[in-house]
Amino acid sequence: MSLWSKLAFPLILCLLLAGCGARAPEDGEGGAVVVGFSQLGSESAWRIGNTASMEKAAKAHGYGLMLDNANQKQEKQISAIRSFIAYQVDVIAFSPIVETGWDNVLTEARTAGIPVILTDRMIDTRDDTLYTAYVGADFLEEGRKAGEYLIRKADAIGAEHLNVAEISGTLDSTPMRERQQGFMQAIEGDPRFTVIESISGDFLRSKGEECMRDLLDRYGPEGIDVIYSHNDAMTLGALDVLEAAGVKPGVDMILISVDGEQAAVDALREGRVNCIVECTPDLGEHVMTLVEALTQGKPIPKTTHPEETVFTDFDDLSNLAPRGY
Ligand code: AHR
Repeated sequence: MSLWSKLAFPLILCLLLAGCGARAPEDGEGGAVVVGFSQLGSESAWRIGNTASMEKAAKAHGYGLMLDNANQKQEKQISAIRSFIAYQVDVIAFSPIVETGWDNVLTEARTAGIPVILTDRMIDTRDDTLYTAYVGADFLEEGRKAGEYLIRKADAIGAEHLNVAEISGTLDSTPMRERQQGFMQAIEGDPRFTVIESISGDFLRSKGEECMRDLLDRYGPEGIDVIYSHNDAMTLGALDVLEAAGVKPGVDMILISVDGEQAAVDALREGRVNCIVECTPDLGEHVMTLVEALTQGKPIPKTTHPEETVFTDFDDLSNLAPRGY
């Protein structure tokens, strides 16, 4: 940050943040390094945990964090990034709600000489110099793990044929696209599985409920053997609907979910969910470590994937530590 920016900090920041709704670093919260972080929303416990992880790591590193919550709106993310550019933050981090539509604003960041770290989700661009690094899950691998679990479960119960309904995440988002692709790759060519439907629940619990109601109306409980849901929030919504309809999830229907939030892990322990592919929201420390390297002029890896596991009804989960989200 230039001396000019530091001196004009309070006034300019207030003006900019009034426009984009971002929260400014408070006194004592930040030092010389300022990171602008555009979070896509607060649609799930995962997302709230992810925001907390970024805040905690920024504080631990002594960085100021300009945080903007876009409430699921791409236009809000774009205008937050523009505010960060105008403020001349040291690094921009953002979690893109969808993959497309970022080239213009990222070109503006590059022209301003501000490195961009994509967190949690990827973008679709022909020019990968528009971002400096990506920190987030390997969503393709998550989808494959979900498919591999289904094969194992079908073997274990001796299933001859299973109808699978998919409740997907936000359309045009990386986790939605790759969790679907990885799952399909894993079960491809296995005649025991028919994917009867894929509908989007937008990663929201309320929409997970709606999707489940819609699926039950159209296929009936007897027409669906497996629900593959792209996140725990939607799974928890689907559970409510299934149980209200007299279906025993985890017993009458196999439920496969993604994330590993506490409420879903509890449901897995109770036998109401069969498998959860972990997706960790704890990305903050990875991101701030890269920020530190960048501000010291050190090279950083283009891609960082956190370690993730799978929790299933084949495992003993009695010693699993509290999830923290
Ligand atoms: O991008 C990660 C996904 O977004 C998580 O699985 C989900 O819970 C969140 O909304």
